Amino acid sequence: MSDRSKILFVDEDIAVLNALQSLMRDEDWECRFADNGSEALALMAQEPAELIVSAAVMTEMDGINLLTDIRRLHPSTIRIFLTDHFHHDAVVRALAEGHTQQIIQKPWIDLELKEILRSALRQATYQRKQSPELQELINSLPLLPTLPETYGQVRACISDDEIDIERMAEAISQDVSLSTTLLHWGNSALFGQRFLVDTIKKAIIVLGTDIVENLVLSEAAFRAVKTNTRNISGLDINLFKEHSIATATIARLLIKFIHSNNVAMQDRAFIAGLLHDMGKLFLANYLPEQFQRAIDLASQNQISLSAAEQSIYQTDHAQLGAMLAEWWSLPPFLVEAIRSHHQARTTPVEAEVNAATYVANYLACQFSFASHIGQHDMEIDPGYLELFHLNEETIDVLKSKTLSIISALPI
Ligand SMILES: [Fe+2]
Ligand SMILES: [Fe+2]
Repeated sequence: MSDRSKILFVDEDIAVLNALQSLMRDEDWECRFADNGSEALALMAQEPAELIVSAAVMTEMDGINLLTDIRRLHPSTIRIFLTDHFHHDAVVRALAEGHTQQIIQKPWIDLELKEILRSALRQATYQRKQSPELQELINSLPLLPTLPETYGQVRACISDDEIDIERMAEAISQDVSLSTTLLHWGNSALFGQRFLVDTIKKAIIVLGTDIVENLVLSEAAFRAVKTNTRNISGLDINLFKEHSIATATIARLLIKFIHSNNVAMQDRAFIAGLLHDMGKLFLANYLPEQFQRAIDLASQNQISLSAAEQSIYQTDHAQLGAMLAEWWSLPPFLVEAIRSHHQARTTPVEAEVNAATYVANYLACQFSFASHIGQHDMEIDPGYLELFHLNEETIDVLKSKTLSIISALPI
């Protein structure tokens, strides 16, 4: 058996398989190809692959049934759809129910496809290295953490050539608290708003669909956890939410300091700040006892939460959050920003957004927006403060802007 990573591609369209075969030729992966589901299952029985990439709609055995079987028979194999039925209900449902962990749209972009495969293989290796308990736990979850329903509806309104803002506004309007949040940010000075935003449709236009999608995701994630965190002492969901929003606000302002005209990058920093700690929500939901032990250990021994987590479950909320973001097919910049928010590292993906998230997380705590009670003081690499021209004066400006934005929040 070779040590090379194994990928199995399944598609009944021979032209697609041929194209994939020639694309993968220069990679050091052991790739196998099957043109139907039964053959794929037989190949997996002979020798399992770390990764299966399958068409979603096939005549002999549907891709959804195939991946459901693979999930049962080979739980550690990562499952990806490669499909031109991106917004098909069944495909979106398969993602929400965890039968597939990623969806790649056809026609694919070669570099992007390879990057996704590379990152999935990293995830497979990462999962294998986890403590057996954690690995078993992740694989035994009846459903992977699912995407909130409204998020699915919002995503479904976006296709390659058009965005259905009317339908998106309608989906969001069903939810009062979400609507309030959107109207709040639509009118916020943070997004440079000058006129009154009094409808969801206007808020979507002002904020842009990327921000809207991620606000929906974070709102739903905060809410899903609200009931489950009652028993975790030290984790107050309102404090947590405030910390996330403060980090998002600061990250956006930091990028504005160095790229005042690049609104898209400022938005990406906001999104990264908003979701950087979502690994904690995953832990609160799925591993509450272990998470409680980590919080207690960190506060008793005055060590960082990450260090306490490492000693209990050999990973931390940053790694788990990144894993969750990968499962949810969130964009690579977000996965990397989540992964490195406690330990900045130079990555090829959006290094400045990464750095902004790392610094903003630190500053949010300095400005008294800690994410949990008893949070240990963090340290920061001073080089990153220089990157954003931060000194006492600019930090004070950041602090007062952040305080005024947070105090106006409808939490
Ligand atoms: Fe964190
Ligand atoms: Fe944080």
